[in-house]
Amino acid sequence: QMNRFISGLMKKMTLEEKVGQLSQCSGGFATGPDNTRISRTEDISKGLIGSLLNVSGAANTRKYQEAAMKSRLQIPLLFGLDVIHGYRTGFPLPLAEAASFDLDAIERGSRCAAKEAAAAGLHWTFAPMVDISWDARWGRVMEGAGEDPYYGSLVAKARVHGLQGDDLLKENTILSCIKHFAGYGAAIAGKDYNSVDMSMGQFANFYMPPYKAGAEAGAATFMSAFNDFNNEPSTGSTFLLRELLKNQWGFKGFVVSDWGSVGEMMNHRYAKDEKEAAYKGIKAGLDMEMVSECYSKNLVSLVKEGKVSIKLMDDAVRRILEQKYKLGLFDDPFRYCDEERERTVIGSQESRKEACYVSERSIVLLKNENSVLPLSSSIKKVALIGALSKSQKDMCGAWSCAEVGKVVTLYEAMEKRGVDINYNDGYDLKTNKIVNLDQTLAAARQSDVVIVAMGEQAWESGEMRSKGDISIAAEQQRLVSELVKTGKPVVVLMMCGRPVIFNEVRRDAPAILCTWWLGSEAGNAICNVLWGDYNPSGKLPMTFPQHNGQIPLYYQYKSTGRPTALGGWCAKYIDIPTEPAYPFGYGLSYTTFNYSDVKLLPGDGKGTYTRVAVTVTNTGKYEGEEVVQLYVRDEVASITRPIKELKGFEKIKLNPGESKTVTFDVKDEQLGFYNNQMKFIVEKGDFTLMVGGNSRDLQEIKYILN
Ligand code: IFM
Repeated sequence: QMNRFISGLMKKMTLEEKVGQLSQCSGGFATGPDNTRISRTEDISKGLIGSLLNVSGAANTRKYQEAAMKSRLQIPLLFGLDVIHGYRTGFPLPLAEAASFDLDAIERGSRCAAKEAAAAGLHWTFAPMVDISWDARWGRVMEGAGEDPYYGSLVAKARVHGLQGDDLLKENTILSCIKHFAGYGAAIAGKDYNSVDMSMGQFANFYMPPYKAGAEAGAATFMSAFNDFNNEPSTGSTFLLRELLKNQWGFKGFVVSDWGSVGEMMNHRYAKDEKEAAYKGIKAGLDMEMVSECYSKNLVSLVKEGKVSIKLMDDAVRRILEQKYKLGLFDDPFRYCDEERERTVIGSQESRKEACYVSERSIVLLKNENSVLPLSSSIKKVALIGALSKSQKDMCGAWSCAEVGKVVTLYEAMEKRGVDINYNDGYDLKTNKIVNLDQTLAAARQSDVVIVAMGEQAWESGEMRSKGDISIAAEQQRLVSELVKTGKPVVVLMMCGRPVIFNEVRRDAPAILCTWWLGSEAGNAICNVLWGDYNPSGKLPMTFPQHNGQIPLYYQYKSTGRPTALGGWCAKYIDIPTEPAYPFGYGLSYTTFNYSDVKLLPGDGKGTYTRVAVTVTNTGKYEGEEVVQLYVRDEVASITRPIKELKGFEKIKLNPGESKTVTFDVKDEQLGFYNNQMKFIVEKGDFTLMVGGNSRDLQEIKYILN
């Protein structure tokens, strides 16, 4: 039925109207350098624009949709926005949320975002970002799921399912967009928009899996990346868009460019003018152009001159119309523009509850000497230090929607708990210099415990926010050391949008929680963890370095011919250590877990070669959750392989004294890899299977695949 309807419609469309469907422009603010292609309602009414970005709200989108309904064929507009971590209800940053290792909670988070966005007139979000990155200098690590391709793939799937559900006609679903295809997280030196250069083997094994997983999960759209890939801009890469994505993976949705990236092919020196950029884009398989006007100005003549076939054009148009159809827009173009629904759905208590749930699970306990945490309920007098604890914007985090509602700060949440707060800014948010040190120290001395909120501000991560130095400001760190000297227990809350370096704090503070930026319920979630209403269970989805010089840093590095572990003439530095501050997968709990009895169990003869079992026991005094992790090393292979790779995990809950046996299936997925021809293969031979609570502290067992 859909095919028949669209074929009928396309027969009626002029070439100009077809090009219109491939053109997207901004209806509001700019999320890129140039905002020339702002929406002109007369163009919309002529059917020359297919989609708007950066417009939201039921009333606002209705206004534009009414203009589209004046067009000859009344093809509805598609409204897209970057709903990155919630719409009105702010959720944790995607990187923070990934620390939960709770795929169900992650999926529910995306579902809430979709529900609110759909109620606010939106059909489409430019999320999830699934770019793997090993470089914490890159500001956009905040928007992804971290460094690991296996975990990143599972998170990509969860987010696509969360956003799209199983039926786009439902009120709580919108189109997702897998971005940025491909390799955007591998920008050289962590500098946003920089070139990318990697071997195909590297791409296939480390960067490609989450994109592929997103396509397999049914993502409706993909966004091409700003960067070049294999010496071609991704936006004009036939290999990426047409061969890999559309032909090999069978992707049926459409590909949108990034902001202006068709035009930017001229800056790449890959196209001499807008016409050539349009030609290269459409040939490559780039269906919709965001903001630059290469398509709208040149595709008609390219077709008339016979340089671009109408078949190629029709394929792109059809892909876009299909998504509009699936959203039900041809039946009712205004079905997302319901102001009554908008009022009742967005920012609901139910969504805030979900946000709090996943925020608690995103917090990572990094240190807890002398069991400073959880705070006893008898502790009432608290010195709360740090201007960040009062900053709504910062506690919500970078790239939150302009429409984000009330953010509960830490200060407010503590007040609500009835805590006797002795507050001091501690440092100046603009300069990061210590302010009123004597007064701050006096506050600490008069209190039972000192809580220091420190770290980055929201603006320090995100697009265009790459850093050459990811260390936390020296004065902020010195403040902690001074506070520790008072003899009072000091708890540090590290607020950040990326892995950060804070060696002095790590040395001096007895307790450290990585609280990232958590969205609307940040303050409540942090308080729940501080006072033990929730026992932290998050694990780091990215390695935290000790020194900038270690970056890019990741746990799945290769052995090399002179392995670091051998010492001597090995891969190392003469001036800094090679070990990270905290390894991938690391995170403590208020309780402790013991791993024992690692053993192999028989496979099932139906694809499971073997199973590895481990018994995990809660040896502490609190109920707690642990992310039990499986890593695999291929001992000898036909290409060089990493020293270990995450290949399974399970989050379990245990009462004090309770034990559980966790069993992982070992299949092709666990043992195989892509060879240099990008073919997935499994090779016989020796493997080491490793289980534990993080990527460093593991127990091994050998397995031979005959
Ligand atoms: O979705 C974003 C993309 O991630 C970066 N450039 C702008 C796009 C639209 O806002």
